[in-house]
Amino acid sequence: MENELIKKGRELREKAKEDLAKALDQLGLDSFYATYLSKKGSLRGLLGNMKDVAPEERGETGSAINSFFREINDAYETRKKRLEEEKRQKKLESETIDISLPGRKPQTGFINPYHLIIDEVTDIFISMGYEVVEGRDVETDLYNFELLNVPKDHPSRDMQDTFYLNADKLLRTQTSAAQAHTMRERSSDPKPIRMICPGKAYRRDDDDQTHSHQFAQIEGLVVDKDISIANLKATLELFAKKMFGEKREIRLRSSYFPFTEPSVEVDVSCFACGGKGCSTCKGTGWIEILGAGMVNPKVLRDCGYDPEVWTGFAFGVGVERVAMLRYGIDDIRRFYSDDLRFLSDFTGK
Ligand code: DAH
Repeated sequence: MENELIKKGRELREKAKEDLAKALDQLGLDSFYATYLSKKGSLRGLLGNMKDVAPEERGETGSAINSFFREINDAYETRKKRLEEEKRQKKLESETIDISLPGRKPQTGFINPYHLIIDEVTDIFISMGYEVVEGRDVETDLYNFELLNVPKDHPSRDMQDTFYLNADKLLRTQTSAAQAHTMRERSSDPKPIRMICPGKAYRRDDDDQTHSHQFAQIEGLVVDKDISIANLKATLELFAKKMFGEKREIRLRSSYFPFTEPSVEVDVSCFACGGKGCSTCKGTGWIEILGAGMVNPKVLRDCGYDPEVWTGFAFGVGVERVAMLRYGIDDIRRFYSDDLRFLSDFTGK
């Protein structure tokens, strides 16, 4: 039998279904809950009216109202879950990373050709058992000149004017200073020496295409017993072949350096034309690559190596010059200008 309360409950249930369908967000759901399902809500509130129902109808009425309540409560829970799920999904979508977008390549630096040459020359001499010695950019007059047999009044100082920090300290004009340091450091217990020293040198030069007030050299020094000019020639020939190609030959031309006696300029047969004559070798078939010589006995003695016991040879390579020849670079200033268009041509291969 359907009494007033059951009828009202059914009407409320229908109304609740319509309202629930309109509750589209959390706010709507909250107000729906308050209206129908909370303690003060209308569907629940119906149970408070049971006292007006005749005792014999209470059982049936109570279970009818309860079932309306459960039905609407279940629908509410389902809808609530769905809204939460939708919200979570939207959040996830907004946070996704589009992995199909290609990444930005970080720009890597380039190795200055000047360092490429230093690395290559260093590798060659390390493979021959040399050690690499670190020199210093600021030198004393003693190490840069005096110990290398260039006394104060020596005319060759004219060609190596430099930047003085005071009357005695200067920016070294040649990595040859490292020869004197290496021998002196070991002179209390002289041992054979096989070393190279790559580094910067400075001269008061007017900068142009082939001159720079700052440039790099690689110094080499070998001191041992029974070292002769044949060792010098064999070593530099091997170096020239490894650096410029198996077919290269070298020739020695007599020259003068105060710290070597005899002194030579070393030419390599032109790697551009094979020796026939071209613009790289200015038609001669030969390219000058370094200065060298047998260590002057006076230098050995002044640096603490007895020239009656020890002999040796030394050489000095101009780094930029070799790089310019090797890579066809037309202007020495390019090495120091940090122009990416220039540097990006050198990938280290
Ligand atoms: N120091 C010389 C220069 O700067 C280069 C040089 C020549 C170094 C002959 C040497 C050498 O060790 O034996 O012009």
